[in-house]
Amino acid sequence: MVKYETKPIAPGFGVAISGLKIASGESDNLIAEIIQLWHDAGGIAVIHDQDLTSEQHIAFSRHFGPLFGDPLEEPLQSTVSRYIHPEYPEIYRVSNKVDNEGMPLGRKGAGTYWHSDVSFRERPAQASLLHGKQIPILGGDTLFADQARAYEALSKNMKVFCSSLFAWHDFEDAARSQYASTVVVEEDMAGGNRSLHPVVRTNPDTGRKSLFINPGFTSHIDGFTSEESESILAFLYGHCVKPEFVYRHTWREKDLVIWDNRSVMHYAVMDYSDDEPRYMERCTVIGERPT
Ligand code: OGA
Ligand code: MN
Repeated sequence: MVKYETKPIAPGFGVAISGLKIASGESDNLIAEIIQLWHDAGGIAVIHDQDLTSEQHIAFSRHFGPLFGDPLEEPLQSTVSRYIHPEYPEIYRVSNKVDNEGMPLGRKGAGTYWHSDVSFRERPAQASLLHGKQIPILGGDTLFADQARAYEALSKNMKVFCSSLFAWHDFEDAARSQYASTVVVEEDMAGGNRSLHPVVRTNPDTGRKSLFINPGFTSHIDGFTSEESESILAFLYGHCVKPEFVYRHTWREKDLVIWDNRSVMHYAVMDYSDDEPRYMERCTVIGERPT
């Protein structure tokens, strides 16, 4: 029996786990326990003090499901290939660091807007597992917003209305018009990353419904005029990131943070300078088609 401690990190949202070393070869029971803790905590788990190699990170992540970038599965997004780890196609790197030739060691400014990872794909991400290998002394927090509670807090009528809607998620459209174009370069645009998803989806692992629209990648609600779509989205965006639904994670070096993109949005706060190196590695689990 492996002993570890758990502690809630926000009311009803998030669990911190310490005293556990993920190496590889964890028992099925332990893995099932961790995944259950994660679901029960609304899809956020922080596992502290993980000295993970990239291989161990990948092996652990595979217990959640198939990974983007696995040679037998689909790539993450053809246009981010230069941010993928050169030796491990399953690892996407987020960083402000560059190598000796000035090549980025990861995507700088990744996720500096509310989003759900790769929601523009037909099968968007389920879990993302982000390992904080180098953390600025100050700043560089990540915010998480619980979209199950955001849905549950709506009136009955608004729940019914939202459940009738479908929204387009379109990387290029959203990137060009809706957030800091400074963090997106032209090569990021190619590749038909566009999908239609229900605005309310049910997480098959928990049975809970959540809102599934995000300012990062959602371009518009299907079947409405742009004026109508903008009004609906403006209301929902104001609602879904209310402070009551948000947990702000201040990273410790070696944290492994796992979030469920089906019911959680996140936002990377880029308030640190380039003199403060930040280096993170992410494995991304391929989810099901939202329903
Ligand atoms: C991501 C992301 C958040 C961060 O890796 O998907 O959005 O704080 N990163 O780096
Ligand atoms: Mn992200």
